[in-house]
Amino acid sequence: MSIYSRILGTGSYLPPETVSNDELAARLARDGIETSDAWIVERTGIRERHFAADGVGSVDLGEQAARRALDDAGLTPQDIDMIIVATSTPDMIFPSNAALIQGRLGCPGGAVFDVQAVCAGFIYALSVADQFIRGGMTRRALVIGTEVFSQILDFSDRGTCVLFGDGAGAVVLGGSDTPGVLSTALHGDGRQAAILRTPGRVCGGKVSGHPFLEMDGQAVFKQAVHVLENVAREVLEKAGRSSSDVDWMVPHQANIRIMLHTAKKLGIGPERVVQTVAWHGNTSAASIPLALDTAVRAGQIRRGQTLLLEAVGGGLTWGAALIDF
Ligand code: ACO
Repeated sequence: MSIYSRILGTGSYLPPETVSNDELAARLARDGIETSDAWIVERTGIRERHFAADGVGSVDLGEQAARRALDDAGLTPQDIDMIIVATSTPDMIFPSNAALIQGRLGCPGGAVFDVQAVCAGFIYALSVADQFIRGGMTRRALVIGTEVFSQILDFSDRGTCVLFGDGAGAVVLGGSDTPGVLSTALHGDGRQAAILRTPGRVCGGKVSGHPFLEMDGQAVFKQAVHVLENVAREVLEKAGRSSSDVDWMVPHQANIRIMLHTAKKLGIGPERVVQTVAWHGNTSAASIPLALDTAVRAGQIRRGQTLLLEAVGGGLTWGAALIDF
């Protein structure tokens, strides 16, 4: 039985279409909705996002990210005995994205399921895979975050439609005698469900309720800065480390102000924070593995470094992970 789980490889995939703030503003202006590059950059740090083409779903994006993570790890799909997908925009009600991706990869037999914890989904999925590996149930897991939030955005609501983008990221997690995932922490507060939600569902063959993302941005902002600092301190304490041991913080990429504010409270300077929100927007459960893979491939994050991952999302859900990469 392995004492630890380790990240063996990373991968990501972005759909080819980029939409800059100016392009999005021009599209919204056609429907009489006013926004601007200046407003979006100042409030969020976002400059552009990727949107999936019509007919492209989160399984398509997730499959590509998974293949790249496997390549990076030097493994084949047959080496994988568990797939966990974090998503809030699955292709179908069922089967799960994990089952659909396993089918595409052609590696039947292992456990497959989705985790739905919105923007904290990847941390949840990583933590679950870590537990399975350390418990001896799993040897190598694909942990994927994949989203097509463009398909649940209300483009008449300028307070939300400018914030999100599409993409996918993945890691291969495998058993190891050396660390590895050092500690994780997961939390939720279902009393806050109404501040960030997509409340529609399919009922009797029709969509029942509002099938678009709704958010009370200020309420989410206030909760985010509070819970993220606490959960980051929690994983540091569990692992017996301090924030000065962190080489890179890889936060959920929702808003540059939240990311840098949290880092500052932890004593982590902006030069140690992976920042991809400008080019990806908020890709929900995909954002952390996408940011991680981007920083690895750019040569920023290197083997042996210590990473602090943290996220908050709808639910509310939040969590963090401390990792020796
Ligand atoms: N362009 C121009 N003006 C806008 C836009 C826009 N896109 N959106 C809102 N405004 C206007 C509002 O109408 C309002 O105008 P008013 O003063 O005339 O009424 C003004 O800007 C201020 O609006 P606020 O909502 O108060 O703006 P705020 O400074 O709070 O910024 C934002 C909004 C960026 C959404 C911020 O609240 C935020 O980042 N919240 C956190 C969101 C987040 O992190 N989510 C992460 C989780 S996501 C997940 O789990 C799926």
